[in-house]
Amino acid sequence: MSRCLIVFFSQGGTTKRVAQAVSKGLSAHGHEVDLHDLSDGPPPDHGRYDVLGIGCPAHYYRPAIIVCDYLATLSGLSGKPVFTFVLYAAYVGDAGNVVRGALEAKGGNELGYARFRGAGRFLGYLRHGYQFSPADPSSDAIAEAERFGGDLAERLAGSTHVPAAHDPSPPAVYRLERFLTSRFFIRQVYSRLFRVDRRSDLLAGDVVDVLAVHGLQHPERGEGSGDPSRAGGPQERADDRGATSRAERVGATAAAAVLRPRSCNE
Ligand SMILES: Cc1cc2nc3c(=O)[nH]c(=O)nc-3n(C[C@H](O)[C@H](O)[C@H](O)COP(=O)(O)O)c2cc1C
Repeated sequence: MSRCLIVFFSQGGTTKRVAQAVSKGLSAHGHEVDLHDLSDGPPPDHGRYDVLGIGCPAHYYRPAIIVCDYLATLSGLSGKPVFTFVLYAAYVGDAGNVVRGALEAKGGNELGYARFRGAGRFLGYLRHGYQFSPADPSSDAIAEAERFGGDLAERLAGSTHVPAAHDPSPPAVYRLERFLTSRFFIRQVYSRLFRVDRRSDLLAGDVVDVLAVHGLQHPERGEGSGDPSRAGGPQERADDRGATSRAERVGATAAAAVLRPRSCNE
């Protein structure tokens, strides 16, 4: 029996549901699995576990920023079995490659890699008060994730496997989009040009509830920021204390939804 830690990030819930299914597949073979959502803070030390899994949504053809930050802190994998799964809507790009490359560079021994169709991101959903397709992932994807967990367990028991090929790298136009949604751009450009529009109807909807790591506050409920002193404040600007890093995590989708251009006299 191995002790496994699955560290994941899930803005809309699909990666979480897949993580739970992978965990079920591993548990069915007698392994003990702990799940940790990066939105809840730093995960436990992976040194206490025999196996480390990373679950991550594709955000602009790369892993979500919070997962990249976690990967950067990782050390001491030397030979530890690791696995990766990535959720995506249409085109995964380098998301899986980046996670797998980081785990490999830190000495992890890859046990498996899988991609799963998650939620489609379609602005029309906003009319219904949500940003993601709520029925995803499909029951097929969940069953597939459970099987993936079972395959991992068999590999842990010694069965051989051919490592999955890396995904093809995205063409230049995707890399441009990646740059335009990079942390640098968000910090240097969007944070200077936009502010949160607290009057926006969108803020009153479920969109706020699914923002990455619940980074922005709901205007009436004042929840979600992690900084109670800011709860329900009249204005939250992207360059306020602490808000820049939250804005970074929120990314450009959320920016499009809740940020409005600064007026000239602001
Ligand atoms: C900011 C953002 C960027 C995204 N970028 C991509 C992408 O590059 N390729 C893709 O196929 N899906 C992309 N998606 C869709 C997500 O990968 C997909 O909805 C996934 O299931 C979300 O996982 P979650 O529900 O755990 O947050 C993006 C979603 C968001 C919110």
